[in-house]
Amino acid sequence: MNTAASPSDSTLVRAARGESVPHTPVWFMRQAGRSLPEYREVRAGTTMMEACRTPDLVTEITLQPVRRHRVDAAIFFSDIVVPLEAVGIDIDIEPGVGPVLDVPFRSREDLDRIPELTADMVPDITESVRRIVLELGATPLVGFAGAPFTLASYLIEGGPSKNHEKTKSLMHGDPQLWHDLCARLSRIASTFLQIQVDAGASAVQLFDSWAGFLSKADYREHVLPHSRAALAALADRDVPRIHFGVGTGELLPDMAGEGADVIGVDYRVSLAEAIERVGGDQPVQGNLDPALLFAPWDVIEAQVRRILAEGRAAPGHIFNLGHGVLPDTDPVVLTRVVELVHEVSAR
Ligand code: CP3
Repeated sequence: MNTAASPSDSTLVRAARGESVPHTPVWFMRQAGRSLPEYREVRAGTTMMEACRTPDLVTEITLQPVRRHRVDAAIFFSDIVVPLEAVGIDIDIEPGVGPVLDVPFRSREDLDRIPELTADMVPDITESVRRIVLELGATPLVGFAGAPFTLASYLIEGGPSKNHEKTKSLMHGDPQLWHDLCARLSRIASTFLQIQVDAGASAVQLFDSWAGFLSKADYREHVLPHSRAALAALADRDVPRIHFGVGTGELLPDMAGEGADVIGVDYRVSLAEAIERVGGDQPVQGNLDPALLFAPWDVIEAQVRRILAEGRAAPGHIFNLGHGVLPDTDPVVLTRVVELVHEVSAR
């Protein structure tokens, strides 16, 4: 379905710039991963972190969903904690749990032990991106990083958290340490993004998976400036920047604007409502509820058509889910969604 001559002329990049497109581009967060039998096969016997640092595996896994679903973009196969491990933080990814640390972040001394990320710490990332981009041809690669708040929460809680109480306690109990930690994480995130772009990624996405747990006031004062800084550091790279968070309906007006070219929308607000909250002047990405991929096809079809219709109110729309593909999703349904998006949106 890709008729572009190069990734910079692809439907994804054009839609992200608010330019006309022959059809709405579509890709899925977590399109590479456990929903695909071919992923489970190549991942067998390798830990997640090892897989993320092995260019052969990263290349193969990133390309799998592009081959199978004919999506309009690849998402780099990695994890938000890969750059943290690369700077020497003792962090692991536990199957079925997510990132975990034996010794969580607590003090100024812990911060002093976190160095800046440099490209020579992750030569494998550069190599993986280069190989993927060569194989993809005119299909764009989306690079990504975790946003400072989500990274900070994993470091401080020591793993996934329901309430983020230790994180909020540090944010308010020692705001100076909080801001210094987030400034460091913001630079690690932006460097990780720059490395991917410099190796050939055509767009980037900043994932703030936990931002929806914050009050608007905390988000504005303690979090948003650091996310903006991470995105702003890409300004001279001339690639679209997507800013996505989960449960961020109330935060959309703040996430919009400065630094973010495209606002990623989760499934809890309609795309129409989200476009209004963003101000109507920015491209958006989203936002089919990933759980609805388990519903009967006529339900899915109606939702896809509604989202495409609502997306026309924005200067650009990239079709995606409202969060990642769930592991038990039938991949056949994902392929059908791609075909439907292309068919319904063809101009
Ligand atoms: O297609 C893609 O999106 C692939 C790349 C990708 C992964 N993680 C692969 C992965 C991306 C973009 C991420 C980002 C990520 N990682 C986020 C932000 C996005 C989001 O979902 O909110 C977060 C919060 C993490 C941290 C993390 N890593 C979690 C919560 C988990 C799941 C734990 C589990 O096993 O349920 C991981 C592990 C992980 N990252 C897997 C994959 C494919 C599963 C590992 C496996 O296959 O064993």
